[in-house]
Amino acid sequence: MKPLVHAVVGCGRVAPNHVDGFTALPDAELRWACDRDLARARALAREYGLPRVTSDVREVLADPEVDSVSVAVDHAGHYELVAAALTAGKHVLVEKPLAMTVEDGAALTALAERAGRVLSVVSQHRYDPVVTAVRDWIAEGLLGRLVSGTVSLQCGRDDAYYAESYWRGTFAGEGGSALVNQGYHALDVTRWLTGGLSVVGAATGHTAPRGGMETEDTLAAVLRGPQGALVTYQVTVASSITWRTRIELVGTDGSVLFDLDHPGTLHLAEGGDALRAAAGTVRGQVSPPPAGIGYYGISHRRQIADFAAAVRDPRHTMAADGTAGLDTLRLLREMYRTARSEGGAASAGGSGARSAGGSGAAAPSGTAAVGAVTARG
Ligand SMILES: NC(=O)c1ccc[n+]([C@@H]2O[C@H](COP(=O)([O-])OP(=O)(O)OC[C@H]3O[C@@H](n4cnc5c(N)ncnc54)[C@H](O)[C@@H]3O)[C@@H](O)[C@H]2O)c1
Repeated sequence: MKPLVHAVVGCGRVAPNHVDGFTALPDAELRWACDRDLARARALAREYGLPRVTSDVREVLADPEVDSVSVAVDHAGHYELVAAALTAGKHVLVEKPLAMTVEDGAALTALAERAGRVLSVVSQHRYDPVVTAVRDWIAEGLLGRLVSGTVSLQCGRDDAYYAESYWRGTFAGEGGSALVNQGYHALDVTRWLTGGLSVVGAATGHTAPRGGMETEDTLAAVLRGPQGALVTYQVTVASSITWRTRIELVGTDGSVLFDLDHPGTLHLAEGGDALRAAAGTVRGQVSPPPAGIGYYGISHRRQIADFAAAVRDPRHTMAADGTAGLDTLRLLREMYRTARSEGGAASAGGSGARSAGGSGAAAPSGTAAVGAVTARG
């Protein structure tokens, strides 16, 4: 079989997870490290043994042997690079979120469809053993009808994280912050498990902003599942704890509490005998050590294997395709819109004083925005 030839575009913090995932495939060749900062591309290539480096993505896309591309750059750069790669006939694995706006995201999924190319948005936690198990339990009815949920995420970030980045904490480069970046996975996983969520209300806070960030550092929302379950969702990057997720889903016949930080960690499963027995199998699983930064988890590998399977077989259905990424983007933009509807200083889409390439400006202080929009239920 011809090896799948892959390129990584964007050689920053998350790039090692992509390198690791494609390296772990039995039939792939990782060829290009591309970063507009050539030193970064060189460093990644040197560390992981990639044969070719460039600062110009056009060189990657002109390589006729390249089948697929990881796009792992700042959020504002996703649309242009994904569109260029699909237009060049490449399959694309793009880091979350799919794009900055729903309109751009929809244009990308439509382009992938027209081009007959795989487009997948990274949602690695959908592949965590505990998450896939909970999804099965819900499908099997072990929790009964979902009635309630609580999602809470603390992921403290220091001043340098924002101050030293050209895009983090800016509306122009990131499109929001605590929700769209750190809070993305907990939202995506919960949306997937509940079968869809709509926004009841949302608020953003600029509570203790670090490093000149202009975007929200805290967000809280009330969401509603398709059968009426009410889910409270909270994320903050202003805590002293680096990363702690808790997702609790409560049904009429059982409830589960798990995290995304230690894939496989099920804190609680209460219900009937079938649920308790199933929970025992998840508790016994041992996960391999993560490839990159620990809290990114272990499942980039699994999603990349799923992506490669879809590239090889157009009939293969992915757990995290472009449409899934578009639906999560739609939900999170609606959360921001709802929060902004009451007029908040730290709401996404507000007038950003710091541009994607800029150095930073004083951030507004205080809390912001309370929205209350009733949705279906
Ligand atoms: N799935 C996860 O758990 C996870 C974890 C971290 C980051 N991410 C996502 O990955 C993406 C990148 O995040 P990061 O933390 O690695 O960012 P980073 O700032 O560390 O790296 C981004 C790199 O992209 C490069 N770049 C920007 N535009 C480019 C272009 N046009 N051509 C080539 N290179 C370009 C920059 O020079 C930089 O080196 C973001 O979408 C982020 O949300 C996902």
